[in-house]
Amino acid sequence: MCGIIGFTGHKNCVPHLLDALSSLEYRGYDSAGIAYSTDEGIRIIKTSGKIEALKNKIKDYETAHCNISGDCGIGHTRWATHGEPSDVNSHPHRVRDLTLVHNGIIENYAELKESLAAKGYTFLSETDTEIAAAQISLRYSETSDPIKALHKAAEDIRGSFAFGVIFDDYPHKIYAIRRDSPLVAAAADGCGMIASDITAILPHTRKYFPIPENAALVIDGDEIFFFDRFGRELDIPEEEVTWSTEDARRGGYPHFMLKEIFEEPHALRETFASKMVGNLPAINSKILSSRIGTIHIAACGTAMHAGLFAKHYIEKLAKIPVTVNIASEFRYCDPLLDGEDIVLLISQSGETADTLASLRLAKSREIRTLSLVNVAGSAIARESDEVIYTCAGPEIAVASTKAYIVQCASLYLLALDLALKRGMISAESAEKMCSSFVRDICSGISSVFDYSVTEKIDKAAEYISARRHVFYIGRGIDSHLCTEGSLKLKEISYIHSEAYAAGEMKHGTISLIEDGVPVIAIITEISTAEKMISGIREVKSRGGYVIAFVSEEIADKFEIPYDEVVSIPCPSTHAHLPIMTALQLMAYKCAVKLGLDPDKPRNLAKSVTVE
Ligand code: G6P
Repeated sequence: MCGIIGFTGHKNCVPHLLDALSSLEYRGYDSAGIAYSTDEGIRIIKTSGKIEALKNKIKDYETAHCNISGDCGIGHTRWATHGEPSDVNSHPHRVRDLTLVHNGIIENYAELKESLAAKGYTFLSETDTEIAAAQISLRYSETSDPIKALHKAAEDIRGSFAFGVIFDDYPHKIYAIRRDSPLVAAAADGCGMIASDITAILPHTRKYFPIPENAALVIDGDEIFFFDRFGRELDIPEEEVTWSTEDARRGGYPHFMLKEIFEEPHALRETFASKMVGNLPAINSKILSSRIGTIHIAACGTAMHAGLFAKHYIEKLAKIPVTVNIASEFRYCDPLLDGEDIVLLISQSGETADTLASLRLAKSREIRTLSLVNVAGSAIARESDEVIYTCAGPEIAVASTKAYIVQCASLYLLALDLALKRGMISAESAEKMCSSFVRDICSGISSVFDYSVTEKIDKAAEYISARRHVFYIGRGIDSHLCTEGSLKLKEISYIHSEAYAAGEMKHGTISLIEDGVPVIAIITEISTAEKMISGIREVKSRGGYVIAFVSEEIADKFEIPYDEVVSIPCPSTHAHLPIMTALQLMAYKCAVKLGLDPDKPRNLAKSVTVE
């Protein structure tokens, strides 16, 4: 995810900007840039690629001109959402009399763009950020007051943002405002700074000011002034970081995996903002608008499990046949591919060797390829005919959590979009389905973090972490959740687990059930709940210990013979992803209880770039 930094008050802020940007690298990014004030005005140097590329560009500039120095500057690492990673789309963006860096997503950028264009604004990039810069510039032209302009523009903007701004009229001051995106301010050694991440300021100070939602601020040397939207000055108490740099990168969470699970609601909002217009799905793809025979999904690990989730909805809503393939098998099985088929590659990293090989196989057979990727500019994103980006932000823990949730959410929208394009559902019902999906899964996942639910998850983890074998059972789409839930558990806790379609249990695996063996039963479907309950009875009568993960509606409607229950406050239709979050949290808790590091499980790598 993007990173913001700003320094003022130093003789030369440029090295500080570059060091701070390097400390934000771990968040993942595809472009970087800085802007700083000089005697000749604001100078911007930015580029797609890594900070090394930015440093080289700065060196070239120094060789051609003079040494770079400026007492006030802002910097940015970009993770592309609107517009590909390119020099022009990189931040900072300059519009008329201000220069700006931005984290977050401007949801109503299309509307704002239209009204700004009518007022004579022109745009160079494809970014939503440039639109925000123009909106602030418009408000500045009306108010001649940077703080008022920021507040007025914030009222105009829908979405999340943290802005760092330098106005030409105040070249030695940094202005900022935030809503829903992180940003802190700090002062030390005669210098003031802003940063999206405390890590970036730790080399200078451990003291910082948390910036309240919708508060604007100005930094003049080492003095920082905060204002609410009525222009009243705010007295913000300074806080002190008590963590190490490594802790700070984790934002205070003991592990990245936990941080990433807690980031799921935010990641979902970013994904919805980029894949919906109003309440309708809007997936930008020519391939999806054309005739499609069969969709062949190829992916590995968790991404392949997201493919199973996709198959359920694409077939159900759009009535297009879908095959889900393990990429390492697909590439060698001489798949039957027809001219109208498409191959859909799903990958968080966009670099997984087998998924990439499947993509190349499809291309060699002249089959159209579409990818769903999290990392912009990655090999799979570059080589596929079309790419759709998930907006999960960087995922650092090896076991994938938020990337899976966001992949599934994106694929649900894709299924709805396909159904709409093929006339399988009306716009009216698509709108209804879309808005209830967005509402239910965001609130459902947030409710998993309520104490009433986490204490149940903790109790389940206590039982499971003391066992060697666990089974997961479910029917229909729930059986796919079982597969991913089981993978999570074994990846990080090293407890052996197997996932079974509940109806298959009696055809073999039930022989392994004996006293105390934990069986996790997932039930979200009212239509199959009774069948699940009879399966649970069979398990219980052989001594199995049943932990049910269910929607609240199922728990209320049916008498389930469980030993423990984790009931999720979410309508059954959309309880799948919240249940997945609960299963991720349970796997995490098991690993921690066993004294294992969930972020770095043995023998596993985040991105498997070898075959
Ligand atoms: C590795 C990771 C998994 C991931 C899989 C696919 O095995 O450990 O967490 O699901 O690769 O990765 P991708 O980046 O293609 O989604």
